[in-house]
Amino acid sequence: MQCDPFLTFLYIYQFQPSLSSQNTLNSSQLLTFHFNLTLFFMAGTIGFWLVVLVGIVTLFLGLIFNHFLPILSKLGLAFKGTFGWPLLGETLSFLKPHPSNSVGVYLQDHCSRFGKVFKSHLFFSPTVVSCDPELNYFILQNEGKLFQCSYPKPIHGILGKVSMLVAVGDTHKRLRNVALSLVTVTKSKPEFLNDIERIAIQILDSWKDKTQIKFCKEARKFTFNVIVKQVLGLTPEEPETTKILEDFLTFMRGLISLPLYIPGTPYARAVKARSRISSTVKAIIEKRRRNIAENSRKRNDFLELLLCVDTLSEEEKVSFVLDSLLGGYETTSLLMAMVVHFLSHSPTALQQLKLEHQKIRSMKQKNEYLNWEDYKRMDFTQNVINEALRYGNIKKMCSFLYSLSDYLIPSGWKVLPVFTAVHLDPSLHANALQFHPWRWESQDQTCKKFTPFGGGSRCCPGSELAKVEVAFFLHHLVQNFRWKTEEEDQPMAYPYVEFQRGLVLNVERLFEVKKKHQ
Ligand code: HEM
Repeated sequence: MQCDPFLTFLYIYQFQPSLSSQNTLNSSQLLTFHFNLTLFFMAGTIGFWLVVLVGIVTLFLGLIFNHFLPILSKLGLAFKGTFGWPLLGETLSFLKPHPSNSVGVYLQDHCSRFGKVFKSHLFFSPTVVSCDPELNYFILQNEGKLFQCSYPKPIHGILGKVSMLVAVGDTHKRLRNVALSLVTVTKSKPEFLNDIERIAIQILDSWKDKTQIKFCKEARKFTFNVIVKQVLGLTPEEPETTKILEDFLTFMRGLISLPLYIPGTPYARAVKARSRISSTVKAIIEKRRRNIAENSRKRNDFLELLLCVDTLSEEEKVSFVLDSLLGGYETTSLLMAMVVHFLSHSPTALQQLKLEHQKIRSMKQKNEYLNWEDYKRMDFTQNVINEALRYGNIKKMCSFLYSLSDYLIPSGWKVLPVFTAVHLDPSLHANALQFHPWRWESQDQTCKKFTPFGGGSRCCPGSELAKVEVAFFLHHLVQNFRWKTEEEDQPMAYPYVEFQRGLVLNVERLFEVKKKHQ
């Protein structure tokens, strides 16, 4: 009996000439032939589906085997944990949204069952999840030696091949050294602080006729304008700023989308937006180069410094600008939103913050800009910022890393240090689930149990810039406005953190309030 559909087809094909050569067939012959033909068709169809079934079952068993095989490795056995469903593993429970000031059901459940370090299967890979400060510290310190940072391949398509975020080894070191020296030089210039303050005042001025604002939007406007000014020397009014912002938003949407390069998808649009930003930045660099050659106007900013760096290629310089925008935009605006959200629920902290800023202002001339000494005096502000970084889950984790050797974690496995779990661990922080800025009066800010900016060779180069931005914005906000949150808008971790309604605030200028009471 022919079982294979291809052979059945051949059989029928071979019969046809003999069929046509017979001039006459009697009815019983015809019936037998039809019967045979039907049988062959049925056999062929059954055979075909049988082969498909066997194929599917084999594939399925192969997937299950492949999925669970790593569990049996010697080191894999050393960790407790579960691998979840074949292929998907536990990815869906890991991604389940939860209030940002909690660790979420996945971590809570796994830590209580398996301890602070456990194995899991996330994003198609066997993974060791670490909620342990010592192990997290060890992993971050050994990035590039025992572990290597890894972004999924499609992310490379958006960020570009020479982005500092995806670069490894010597390339990463070279890019990072430039970043650190540029940050150091930029910070030493008074214009750096003045620009931040000027942009903060501009944003707050734009609220003067408003009674309600969406704070997340305003905070993003602020951090974008600051970073574009710092890096490219552009003011919000310049047309390039609007163009970069539009493309940058498309780019950001693509980063959290399905990586399908099909025209019209957010991913494809993001790749295109990146190349448009790249062209805009290249044009700005060219213009600046011409200006320097003509010796027209010395701007003395980050871009001017970047142009003089000869260890970076043209493409790396463009990528460098994009990395700074990416690193400094969303995280810093989220931190601002968290601070404002927590202060709305903590009148004592808000009052103390106000007094601190009033005192600093009282020591200055009217309209005099803040400087580094003023910033250093903002002790309580620092405590509020640290507490928002700890409690607010600004950056839940760093990127996944791959284990390069069989030291502790099987090579080829991913490892994921989760900062939030350490920040919200009641055994490490007293009253961990409360916003309590005063804890930082006695607690060390540079310790293994507090790593909001990561650590080791990937530690955030923009941490100081982010803190100054928030502190200066708060300086003007608390002295000029009072606010109430419109309705409860619980920030959620998706795992990227977002206020679902954008943190709507009812705002009132203190100047108007005073006038009302006179
Ligand atoms: C609240 C604000 C911020 C937070 C919480 C934050 C957090 C972090 C963390 C945790 C990392 C390590 C990522 C990893 O290991 O995968 C990182 C890296 C980075 N951040 Fe930030 N960041 C903030 C602000 C900024 C700002 C303002 C800039 C730029 C001006 C910036 C630029 C970068 C860059 C370029 C990297 C990559 C460093 C490298 O790969 O060597 N960040 N940030």
